[in-house]
Amino acid sequence: MEELETQLKKRLTFAIISHPDSGKTTITEKLLLFGGAIHIAGAVKSGKNTKASVSDFMEMEKERGISISTSVMGFEYGGRKINLLDTPGHADFSEDTYRGLSAVDSALLVIDSVKGVEDRTRKLCEVCRMRHTPIATFMNKLDREGKDPMELLDETERELRIGVRPVTWPIGQGRSFKGVYNLVEKSLYLFFPGEVQRPSDIVKIESLEDPLLDEKVGSTLADKLREDVALLNGVYPPFSPADYLAGTATPVFFGSALNNFGVRELLDTLTLMAPHPTPKTSEERLVHPGEEKFSGFIFKIHANMNPKHRDRVAFMRVCSGSFERNKTYHHVRSGKPFRTANPTAFMAQDSEIVDLAWPGDIVGIHDTGTFKIGDTVTEGESINFKGIPSFAPQIFRYIVNADPTKEKQYHKGLDQLAEEGVVQIFSKPHQSNVRVLGVVGQLQLEVLQYRMEHEYNAKCNYKPIDLTIAHWITSDDKKALEAFVDEHSRRILIDIRGTHIFMSDSPWYFERIKGANPAIRFYATSEMVEERSASA
Ligand code: G4P
Repeated sequence: MEELETQLKKRLTFAIISHPDSGKTTITEKLLLFGGAIHIAGAVKSGKNTKASVSDFMEMEKERGISISTSVMGFEYGGRKINLLDTPGHADFSEDTYRGLSAVDSALLVIDSVKGVEDRTRKLCEVCRMRHTPIATFMNKLDREGKDPMELLDETERELRIGVRPVTWPIGQGRSFKGVYNLVEKSLYLFFPGEVQRPSDIVKIESLEDPLLDEKVGSTLADKLREDVALLNGVYPPFSPADYLAGTATPVFFGSALNNFGVRELLDTLTLMAPHPTPKTSEERLVHPGEEKFSGFIFKIHANMNPKHRDRVAFMRVCSGSFERNKTYHHVRSGKPFRTANPTAFMAQDSEIVDLAWPGDIVGIHDTGTFKIGDTVTEGESINFKGIPSFAPQIFRYIVNADPTKEKQYHKGLDQLAEEGVVQIFSKPHQSNVRVLGVVGQLQLEVLQYRMEHEYNAKCNYKPIDLTIAHWITSDDKKALEAFVDEHSRRILIDIRGTHIFMSDSPWYFERIKGANPAIRFYATSEMVEERSASA
């Protein structure tokens, strides 16, 4: 137990969330450099695939398949064992990103100061908000002429609906960028483009009236800083770690990842205040990380891209107790015992077999088809972790088998790829042989066809469907739900858990139906359905 407490206090598991091109790869690399996990710049591959062709994507996945350890990067820093989860860069695979967020205890939001809050940032923050995940924010690329910092704060607060608390504040911007002022420490961090930061670049000043400030940054920028800080103090309450931990306010840092400016301070702050492994919600009860008995859940399954090896890697987040190699556990969904001789831990870009893993750690398990995303593993208790939501796909198609002689391969491929989370598959009421496919991005349709053909020797075709907007539905009134499903049966789909989904073709139509059916609750993710019905 004592060992568990010690290990818990060390763990820090987080993910970086950002819109592509904001600088996630660059920051990841700097963090790993500080952690001593890598020694040269350029060692971290960007997960993005800007060309978005299916062959490029498959190539990229192959590389990732060989070196899957890049999905989780572990390193030690400041007395803590840090697990940084990679989230796929490609917009079409955002669903995987959302699931990754269920396995972390906090997030680092990176915003490009030139572009401000962008599309994917909004969606990712929504997921964090749903779970009250603490978020720290890094405004990147201050070496470029970007948006006004006040405007950036305002935009973040307004668009991401989270309180902002600047911890550092930029002095100048773009070509005139001189560094940042740390509002908590009351020190100046001076910036010299392209140079490694020296200890003498950090200057403690007594107050903003200190003439040293004018000497270091020039009187025009010094005056501007005085003005800005007075304004900030009037508008924003001081930073409180409790608000950060509750997920209601985000500390904001400014810097330039490319110039390695501001990243170390960010990491130091995270090391001090980012949460230890947090309790995780199961359908049955709240599970505390300090509980002696082991529990964990599968949040990602990564296929081996070599068709000759059908094995996959299941990524498991340890939630409580410790996970031991060769010990027999309980796979809750099947009720069967489960044991592994080679659980893998991820350190930097390597993976190694581990004997023991602790809450907050991510363990890779070679899997030949036992696991589905969302599965819980315990020492015997039947609990089911929540927080692995399915998100409403944005593209729907009927899927049909294009080669009737390969019926068996077709169904096997479809089932396995759905389990892996490549696509979501739905059925229709009273039409048992009709399957509808839902994906978040167009590319997934091509990937599915490619993988069906190359891995399962099956061919599939798609047919258009005229319904595009999906909402999971539930009701406290069973009869009302049944009547609704009957009345709108043409627009109803059923997901793998048996939950109904209402499909509409325009936001206007959806709002009308919603308004006319107050007994029915509509949700954008499957998780919301579960949350509400569990507490109802
Ligand atoms: P991502 O993983 O979030 O997609 O972003 P990534 O780190 O790949 O960065 C996107 C682009 O932004 C890269 O340029 C990168 O060099 C640049 N960048 C990152 N941080 C900063 C910064 O602080 N200042 C400036 N000026 N640029 C920054 P690229 O031209 O797309 O790629 P590359 O050729 O430099 O690798």
